Amino acid sequence: MTPEQFIAGLPKAELHMHIEGSIEPALMLALARRNGVAIRWQTEAELRDAYRFTRLQDFLDLYYDGCRVLLQVADFHEVTRDYLRRAHADGVRHAEMFLGPQGHTMRGVPLAVVMQGVLSAMEAAEAEDGITSGLILVAQRHRSEEEAMALLAEAEPWYGRILGFGLGGAELGHPPSKFERFFARCRELGFKVTAHAGEEGPAAYVREAVELLQVDRLDHGNACLEDAALVKELSLRRIPLTVCPLSNLKLQVVTDMAVHPLKQLMDAGLCVTVNSDDPSYFGGYVNDNYLACQQALGLTQAELAQLARQSFEAAFMTEAQRAQAL
Ligand code: ADE
Ligand code: ZN
Repeated sequence: MTPEQFIAGLPKAELHMHIEGSIEPALMLALARRNGVAIRWQTEAELRDAYRFTRLQDFLDLYYDGCRVLLQVADFHEVTRDYLRRAHADGVRHAEMFLGPQGHTMRGVPLAVVMQGVLSAMEAAEAEDGITSGLILVAQRHRSEEEAMALLAEAEPWYGRILGFGLGGAELGHPPSKFERFFARCRELGFKVTAHAGEEGPAAYVREAVELLQVDRLDHGNACLEDAALVKELSLRRIPLTVCPLSNLKLQVVTDMAVHPLKQLMDAGLCVTVNSDDPSYFGGYVNDNYLACQQALGLTQAELAQLARQSFEAAFMTEAQRAQAL
């Protein structure tokens, strides 16, 4: 059995992907045309060629710009349905997806349009393919805490359909401490909470996410390795890390997959998972991420299976949902 076949056959949960980061170039061009939105690129090749980044902000500029093609319920439905179809084909049984409503509402797209499109696609994917999914709304960290609070209030009609809240966007200069009250309120309301931390930012940001925001999961978290006491705490408390290897390579968080910290994080006893982050921008869906790590780090079948098992442990699922997914 080839590593590709072994990885494809593993039942997986994907816990760190952004719906807006899964617009394939062909869909981006089709939506731009359909909605009469002018974009800088004419062909899929031109778009792919533009996806060269030296740091997170380069990517975010392009990513927010790409969001402009999403205007109608059908657009949000299509991008979400496409991702869930690809995930299902990769052996993903359960996906927890990030959605950044501020990137849409600030452009004048009503939250109801966004939610209707995304939620209807989640329902269709479960009915047609049996893949279950959950939604995590992320606040943009370059915006104020008041704006995050406004997002929380605006989302109230959909509280029953939302799994949790998270924090994404430009990390450096926007520490988790900026959102302490927002996270406290989300937790009070009974939501699960996650935060991007330790992607470009330092271990101190990871510590803040754990201690001040009291996150249930860390998105990325790579930088925790700079703080041995923190690693020990994450390991003892079994706080999961949703690691995104190809994203780290494309955003130059690591210089080469051969020096990616995934194996170190595993060897430190952490509950690590492998995820695609923004698959259409970073050149790979979840199985591509598993494979890149297997090839560069020499992961064994047992280690690949451990990563897949941990993805279910880290998922915000009940035991009954977990049993059903496996
Ligand atoms: N939003 C989408 N992808 C992201 C990433 N890799 N880091 C922070 N925010 C993001
Ligand atoms: Zn992310």
